[in-house]
Amino acid sequence: MTVRSKIILDCDPGHDDAVAILMAAVHPSLELAAITVSAGNQTLEKTARNALNVASASGRCANVPVAAGMSRPIVREQVTAGEIHGASGLDGPVFGPPEISLDPRHGVDLIIELLMASDGDITLVPTGPLTNVAAALRREPRIAPKIERVVLMGGTYQLGNVTPSAEFNIYADPEAAHIVFTCGRPIVMMGLDVTRKVRASADVIARVRSLGSSQAALFSEMMEFFAGTQKELYGWDSPPLHDPVTVAWLIDPGCVTLKEMKVEIELKSELCYGRTSCDFFGHCKGGRLTFDTSGALARPAGPNAQVAVDIDADRFWDILYDTFALYTK
Ligand code: RIB
Ligand code: CA
Repeated sequence: MTVRSKIILDCDPGHDDAVAILMAAVHPSLELAAITVSAGNQTLEKTARNALNVASASGRCANVPVAAGMSRPIVREQVTAGEIHGASGLDGPVFGPPEISLDPRHGVDLIIELLMASDGDITLVPTGPLTNVAAALRREPRIAPKIERVVLMGGTYQLGNVTPSAEFNIYADPEAAHIVFTCGRPIVMMGLDVTRKVRASADVIARVRSLGSSQAALFSEMMEFFAGTQKELYGWDSPPLHDPVTVAWLIDPGCVTLKEMKVEIELKSELCYGRTSCDFFGHCKGGRLTFDTSGALARPAGPNAQVAVDIDADRFWDILYDTFALYTK
C-alpha cells in the first residue's frame, strides 16, 4: 500500500487522541512525520508524557519526533478536561517508563521546520486545541501555502459538549481556532456531529481486544476508563471516539460524508464563546476563501471548510479493527 498522506499529528492525549496515535503509527497509508503536543485535556506536562507513553506502546515511533508545544491558550485562561480523562489525562492503563524521550525542539518550531522543508505535501491533523497550529502560522506565515490541508477534530454545527454552544477543542482556544479557520488552506472539520456517532461499545472493545496484541490490550484498558467518565457526564453507554475519525478518514475517505460550509469562530459572545458557527444552509454570500478584512478580524466571505455531516459507523469500526490488526502482523 502506498503512503497516501504524510501527516503531523497535533494532539492532547487524552484517551481518544491515544487511539488516533496508535492508528496513525501503524497504518501503511500514513507517514507519521511527527507528533506534536498541546495542552488541552490536561496540562502540557501530562499530555506530553501521555503522548510519549502511547508512542512508545505503539512500538512504531522510534523515529517519530514527539515534541511538546504550547502550554497555554493564546488569549483565554486555560481549561482542561480532567473530569473526562482523569488527573493524568490518560487514567486507566499503567505505563512503564517510555522508551522514547521528548524531542528537544518546541512543537511549534518542529511544525514550522517540517512544513518549510516539505514540498507542500504535509497534512496537519490536530486533535486537540489549535494552539500549536495557530502559533506556527503566526510565528512563520510562510508555512500557510506549505500546508496541504488541515484535518481536524473539533467544533460542531449542533450541540456543544463543554457548553451548550461549544466543543472542547475549539472552546479551549477559540482565538487559535479563528487563526486556523482563516488561514486560507483546505480544512476538513470532524465535529461532534459525526464523532458522537462512533461510540466504542462493549462488542467493539471485545473485538479489538481479541486481537491479542499489547496495543489491543491498551485500547481495551483505555476504553474501560473512558466509558466510565462518559457515562457519568453524558449518560452515554459507550465512549465516543472523536479523534480517530480524522485518521480513519485519511485511511478511507469514504467513511465520512462532508459538506462545504463557511465556518466562523465566535470570539465575542460570553454565552457562545468558542462556537463554530457553521453555515449549513449556505446563507453566506461571496466567493470561496476570499476574506473581508475591513474589520478587526478577517472573516471568510464564503465556504472555508469541508464539514463532516455523516459517518458510516460500521465502516469506521472496520477501519479501526483492521488498523489494530496490523499490530499482530
Ligand atoms: O470534544 C472532544 C475533543 O476534546 C477530543 O479531541 C478530546 O480528546 C478532547 O480533546
Ligand atoms: Ca483530543
